[in-house]
Amino acid sequence: MNNKNIVAKAIYDVVKEDLTLEQVTQFLEKPKTAAHGDVAFPAFGLAKAYRKAPQQIAQELAEKIDGSHFEKIQVVGPYLNFFMDKGVVTQAVLAQVIKEKNHYGDQSIGNGQNVPIDMSSPNIAKPISMGHLRSTVIGNSIAFILEKIGYQPIRINHLGDWGTQFGKLIVAYKKWGSEEAVKAEPINELLRLYVGFHEEAEKDATLEDEARAWFKKLEEGDEEAFHLWQWFRDESMKEFNKIYDMLEVSFDSLNGEAFYNDKMDEVVEMLEEKHLLASDQGAEIVDLSNYDLNPALIRKSDGATLYITRDMAAALYRKRKYNFAKSLYVVGNEQSYHFKQLKAVLKEMDFAWSDEMHHIPFGLITKDGKKLSTRKGKIVLLEEVLNEAIALANEQISAKNPTLENKDEVARQVGVGAVVFHDLKNDRLNSFDFTLEEVVRFEGETGPYVQYAHARAMSILQKAEFTVDEAATYQLNDEASWEVMKYIQSYPEVVLQAAEKYEPSIIAKHAIKLAQAFNKYYANTKILVDDSEKEARLALVYAVTILLKEDLRLLGLHTPDKM
Ligand code: ARG
Repeated sequence: MNNKNIVAKAIYDVVKEDLTLEQVTQFLEKPKTAAHGDVAFPAFGLAKAYRKAPQQIAQELAEKIDGSHFEKIQVVGPYLNFFMDKGVVTQAVLAQVIKEKNHYGDQSIGNGQNVPIDMSSPNIAKPISMGHLRSTVIGNSIAFILEKIGYQPIRINHLGDWGTQFGKLIVAYKKWGSEEAVKAEPINELLRLYVGFHEEAEKDATLEDEARAWFKKLEEGDEEAFHLWQWFRDESMKEFNKIYDMLEVSFDSLNGEAFYNDKMDEVVEMLEEKHLLASDQGAEIVDLSNYDLNPALIRKSDGATLYITRDMAAALYRKRKYNFAKSLYVVGNEQSYHFKQLKAVLKEMDFAWSDEMHHIPFGLITKDGKKLSTRKGKIVLLEEVLNEAIALANEQISAKNPTLENKDEVARQVGVGAVVFHDLKNDRLNSFDFTLEEVVRFEGETGPYVQYAHARAMSILQKAEFTVDEAATYQLNDEASWEVMKYIQSYPEVVLQAAEKYEPSIIAKHAIKLAQAFNKYYANTKILVDDSEKEARLALVYAVTILLKEDLRLLGLHTPDKM
């Protein structure tokens, strides 16, 4: 039940002749301060039809409107300010939350349609970077949010497991590497070989040719090249999985770039048939000047395919396999141009579904002011960051609640959750810097703060031995509970907005606001005092636990009952 709808209906009942329900709804505003009520209606829109001053119309409407859902209807100049009847609203909303529990806010808009989400997608033989972490957690959260409004998300890890860099790695490994060294520390050693290759190649240009030749061999299925490639991939995957396990993210598909090696000829042929390929100094390109974009390079002069060629094959494969309603790519904004070109080429090929492909970009994150790079050696390893966060969480929990059972598990949920929450609470396009001390704090706008509010609410319910009664009516009329109630009532809209904008931060901000409102309520209201409203207050606290838990679930965080 939504205040806007209630107000719209009440106004509509008296202006039926002149406005539709949609028109009335469109005029409604949310007052800037609570002093002006919950919903406002400016009467300007009726001035023409009624040939009266809006002030007068407002006055007359106020007298006619059925006031049964409202505490009062106030006229301020041309405005009608509606103050909801708190009892009516809390009763209806609490009943709904108690009935639907974690499904409160679910919607069926998606109709079960598939939405592949290209996410994480780190590169084999390189450390997973902070950018990949962002893609992983943003993608994972978008998947949960879309699922909540009825879509079927498909999490795809489009691994960077193909490309000329594998030629370089093979050359470097054969010249300077050893099996033992790779086995001991796969990613570090492979990275060392890769960085070494670039240093040597600056002195000796023939290395680049060798690397190209090896990649060519790999593309053609050469056995030695293939085995080395597979081994690099397996060893890298083992390390990536450590991080995915920590984050508790899993994928429906690990089809990376290599998967499309034998699927690119088809797209290149399609381009030929449609006469879209032009040759440019031996290379094959698609002109995109109609889109104000540089030509897309599809095949190099030596016949090697490119990142975009593999993405074209992947897009087509996903359309065929999943018949997607939308296809999302959660990738840093530095790749915006690539995705523009990708969509444009597919559009040129007359694939109307390319309109449903969306790049979901995000900004750069730095830690302690340091840029995170995987190439130049100055790298911040994600695993270390997460472990450090867990240690910090452990310290705080030990100080606050030294006798807590399963402390290590809670510290893990709080520490990892803190990093994830911090990543998600900012608009995804913002670039930001972080220090772990700030992220793992129990105060401020952090994950642990929200988790702690949830645990506190749980302990109140436990203390009161509260059990919900679906048949009971819970009603609250006071200002203090209303401030909490608002965030519960608006939840379905919040979920929808987050889904439409592909913006987990909308959920994170909701969680923070609800946790803050609850903490204020807890500080100022004697929840457990024995009076006629005690059960209703507890029902409100119960609803808070449901929503905080659901918010955090949508972000990929746990909510320990105690901490
Ligand atoms: N592996 C790429 C990188 O690390 C990201 C891949 C994104 N997904 C895609 N379909 N292009 O830059």
